[in-house]
Parts: sequence; C-alpha cells; structure tokens
Amino acid sequence: MAVLPIAKVGHPELRIRAKEVTREELASANVQTFIDDLIETMRHANGAGLAATQVLRHQRICAVEVRDNPRYPYKPNIPLTILVNPVLTPLDDDKFENYEGCLSVPGIRGLVLRNTRIRVQAWDRRGNEINEEVRGLKACTYQHEVDHLDGLLFLDRVLDPMTLATWEAFDEFHKSAFVERVTALVAKHGS
Ligand code: NI
Repeated sequence: MAVLPIAKVGHPELRIRAKEVTREELASANVQTFIDDLIETMRHANGAGLAATQVLRHQRICAVEVRDNPRYPYKPNIPLTILVNPVLTPLDDDKFENYEGCLSVPGIRGLVLRNTRIRVQAWDRRGNEINEEVRGLKACTYQHEVDHLDGLLFLDRVLDPMTLATWEAFDEFHKSAFVERVTALVAKHGS
C-alpha cells in the first residue's frame, strides 16, 4: 500500500469528470490495489472521505470513513465505505447548511447547502450492490465526495463567499454555533 499525493485546488485534473468503472476493472488487481491506496491516503491525511479524482485517478470510486476524526470532532463515526459508480438521489427538499473542508482545499472552510436525505446506489469494492437511504451529516459527506467525481469542489457550491474561513477563524468565530446546528441535525437523523 502507498500514500498517494493529493491534488490541490487549481490543479486542472480536479475538474475532470471521472469515468464509470466496469465490473472487470473493479475485479482487477490494479483497481483493488488502488482502493487500498485510496484508503491508506485518506487515513494518513485524516480525511472523512477521499475521491479517486483527488489522487488523479479518474474512475468513479470514493472512500468514506469517520473514526473519531480530529479534523471533524463533531462528526459521528461512519464505518469504512467504498462507493463505486455512486448515484445519489435526494429523497426530499430538506437541506442543511454544512461548513465543509476538503483535503484538496487546504486551510479553508465554507458554508454549502446539502440535502439531508438521499438514496445512494453504488457497488462496494467487491461489486456488491449498495442501495440505501443515507441521512444527516453522513449524507452531506457522501455528496461532497461524489461532487469530486464530477469535477466539483465545495468552493463551487459555497452559498456566499463571505462564509469562507480559515480553520482557525472557523474555530474562533463559527464553530460553536455550527456544532449546535450539527448536533440538532444528528439528533434528528441519527447520523
Ligand atoms: Ni473534498
């Protein structure tokens, strides 16, 4: 396994739409090794998720995992999940204003509107079907990762550039109010 370099905002390849993965590709040693590397890279960087696009591999694969994450101490844990060819469908119009950060946008956070109830249809790394409802902050994380596969960054979705903040300024001026809102979201949706 290997820790891969993560591309940062401004890298043109972050804007590429990743290609669907075939079952044959997914079963290959090459792609399976890549998935191991994606997981290792995400964990090494303390990410809550990482999309293949961010390590300049343009296949529709992303990883999500939250294990007492020091970058996002308010995030409930999410078991390691690999999504291959994910398709997300909003289940209602309920939205949450989420303060997001990204390993490809070092140092900056901003407020993004996300759906709070979505259906995710995908394969896991073995090609088994995933078809489930995802809610709350976990749903926000999924939307952030799938955006990467479409060449989008959270910066593209920021509601108002005036919400942009360094992590230090977030902690000082925005964190306590945000954690209050997140706590209510998690209480409502269980994740
Ligand atoms: Ni990101």
